Amino acid sequence: MPAGPKLDDTLLRCIGCGAVTPVAESGLACAACGDLLEVVFPPPNADSAKALGSAALKALWRERRSSQLPADQSGVWRFREVLPSLGEEHPAITLREGNTPLYELSRCARIAGIGQLYAKHQGMNPTGSFKDTGMTVAASFARQEGFRWVACASTGNTSASMAAYAARGGMRSLVLVPEGQIAWGKLSQALDYGAVTCQLKTDFDGCMRVLNQVVQRMPVYVLNSVNPYRLEGQKTAAIELLEQFDWHVTDHVIVPGGNLGNSSALGKAFLEMKELGLISTLPKISIIQAEGANALVRTIRETGGKKLIPVEAHTMATAIRIGNPASWKKAVRVLEATSGTVEQVSEVEIALAKAEIGADGIGCEPASAVTLAGLKKLVKQGFVKSRDSVVLILTGHLLKDPEFTLKFHRGDLFAGTRHEKEAGILSAQQRAPIVLDANVDPVLKVLEQAEKEGIR
Ligand code: F0G
Repeated sequence: MPAGPKLDDTLLRCIGCGAVTPVAESGLACAACGDLLEVVFPPPNADSAKALGSAALKALWRERRSSQLPADQSGVWRFREVLPSLGEEHPAITLREGNTPLYELSRCARIAGIGQLYAKHQGMNPTGSFKDTGMTVAASFARQEGFRWVACASTGNTSASMAAYAARGGMRSLVLVPEGQIAWGKLSQALDYGAVTCQLKTDFDGCMRVLNQVVQRMPVYVLNSVNPYRLEGQKTAAIELLEQFDWHVTDHVIVPGGNLGNSSALGKAFLEMKELGLISTLPKISIIQAEGANALVRTIRETGGKKLIPVEAHTMATAIRIGNPASWKKAVRVLEATSGTVEQVSEVEIALAKAEIGADGIGCEPASAVTLAGLKKLVKQGFVKSRDSVVLILTGHLLKDPEFTLKFHRGDLFAGTRHEKEAGILSAQQRAPIVLDANVDPVLKVLEQAEKEGIR
């Protein structure tokens, strides 16, 4: 890793009382008041970023794309001038994360009633979710600090990502997940990457509570998004997005909200890019939650963002089944700084939006689809205008949760639930697999029928 300030030079600030501490002295919570910490920007190495100037910085980041160095091939460490840096003798643990594609969603744009709609697909990361961009940073720091064990509570993607980076970095990992509430794809990843995996008989918030007790008794390093280094890495998705638009800023960026680390990280990045002079305006960042896991929506609507209203979370979008989001204060700040908004969407709206993103040839996991479902509502409300440019942040890969997709197309997803009636609107999107005798005629008949029906 090229020269930069040592880990010890990084400063952390409490988002509650504002106390600033050098990283070497701090844990993951403020020693004075217990609130969350964030990495102070500009970091010491931003002096060099500022000295370089915005044009040179953009050129440097672009040039690194053709380098063979592991750090340059990573879509996270490529932007190291705005990240806390590792000591020279400590290489990053990298799976060449980031560098994710930006897709135009033309059919979904028509459905939503807008002209320009894009998806930044963070599900195209090495373990299939946006978590990798943060994990490369935080896991590298854990190894540099000499931790043998890392741990997280998770709805599935954090644990998959953490287990992979821990294995690559020669560390052991402990995963706490809610039993029966995470998608199989994610659970199988944690097992495959060698994590000690505990399915606790509770929900995500309960897993978080147990994890906090574990770390008081054992020297394990927490890799949940309360870890400020995770969010530094996750910032790079926003920087890369700006780069993909040749540093033009879209009108809106729409993000799913669970524990609220990702929206906080993306917001931090846009604000920092503005401070560095790489952009002059900000996109409105809006956060969408499932109706059954709507703590932030309620917090904004009922308290103006002043006091968290935790909820008991229920949604089939298991990734965002979180009732007591840790980073809510950071997310509220992002909403205020960028003039974004919050919205909630129903289970059926999520399922429909997921199928629509799939039919555009992209696909994503259910939690990511809240973005399109939310966009449709924001267009109807006039918050997003038909001429606005919009980016949806798709956070997880379609194959993370194949069970949801299969049930959807077989028509079983809402069977026997209170959503059954509302789910009638989904039939036009459903394409159940067809079982036939192994002869050419029945196949041709199916083809003819499909031709008659046209593209659905
Ligand atoms: N989308 C996906 C696919 C996720 O896995 C998560 C969170 C989110 C959105 C929400 O992001 O928490 O930063 O607001 N997954 C967590 C996990 C919490 O444990 O994998 P957030």
